[in-house]
Amino acid sequence: MAHHSHQHQHHAASPEHSHEHDEAGLAEMLDLDAEVLHAHLSELTGWLKDFATDAPVRRILDLGSGTGTGTFALLSRFAEAEVVAVDRSPYMLGHLLDRARERGVAGRVRTVEADLDAGRPDVDQADLVWAAASLHHMADPDRSLREVFEVVRPGGLLAVVEIDGFPRFLPEDLGLGRPGLEERCRAAMSDRHAEQVPHLGDDWGPRLTGAGFTIEAERVFGIELRHPLPEATGRYAQALLRRVRGVLGDRLDAEDLAVLDVLTDSDGPDGVLRREDLVIRAERSVWVARRPVPPTG
Ligand SMILES: C[S@@+](CC[C@H](N)C(=O)[O-])C[C@H]1O[C@@H](n2cnc3c(N)ncnc32)[C@H](O)[C@@H]1O
Repeated sequence: MAHHSHQHQHHAASPEHSHEHDEAGLAEMLDLDAEVLHAHLSELTGWLKDFATDAPVRRILDLGSGTGTGTFALLSRFAEAEVVAVDRSPYMLGHLLDRARERGVAGRVRTVEADLDAGRPDVDQADLVWAAASLHHMADPDRSLREVFEVVRPGGLLAVVEIDGFPRFLPEDLGLGRPGLEERCRAAMSDRHAEQVPHLGDDWGPRLTGAGFTIEAERVFGIELRHPLPEATGRYAQALLRRVRGVLGDRLDAEDLAVLDVLTDSDGPDGVLRREDLVIRAERSVWVARRPVPPTG
């Protein structure tokens, strides 16, 4: 298989240290998410493959790839494919390439640094375009989807995967007082999202048809995992709750914040790294859309 050199250029490191710190934190969470929800992702790509029947899937685009959760799942599922991972963050793309080398698949991955708000990315048309938890970041999703339409080959597919917020980990009764803590955190995060990423939770079906796609399927994957959980579960819960604690300092009361401190403490007996009563509950909505083949003649 042809080896592609990656195209993105590393820019000088951002002077905003906190921004870099943010990206490293987000990258860690995305990797933990991929590890913990591996079985779900495998089920999802297996289901998706059944729609790709008209021709072999050789070229895949992963839009807003992050650290490559979709990229690697798709490379495993579509053995003949190469993936072009597009993201505006050089940090994420660098991390993705490191992981590709570790996994021995760097020859099947190329990265393109591009801001999808700034217009259609400069890439060839693909058999399959994957956009997971990325479209809700777009400033003008309808315009972005019209541009995405152009990079799907006629007859090819677009898979949109969206999240309903962060996964849930905690039992209702933590044994620490403050029942309902996780729901309060989710509600406060949702208020924050409404300000920062207003398209999170949108119905993408009408948008996809508006951009010219036909909808092949729409499915909600309800995920519920219980003991024994994947090894990384505690670390994922800890990373997530630390982030929640960090950004919600002014939206939660002092007692909830104190319980979050207990839960995220690496050494304490009640911390999520040690608890045996964690569960994982999450919801992922998926739309599979096709770019129609224009009628001949
Ligand atoms: C929540 S992450 C999802 C990453 C990955 N698709 C996954 O499922 O784990 C969103 C990603 O979209 C990227 N992103 C957000 N807005 C973007 C834009 N305008 N252009 C390109 N990438 C963007 C971010 O840098 C981030 O890596």
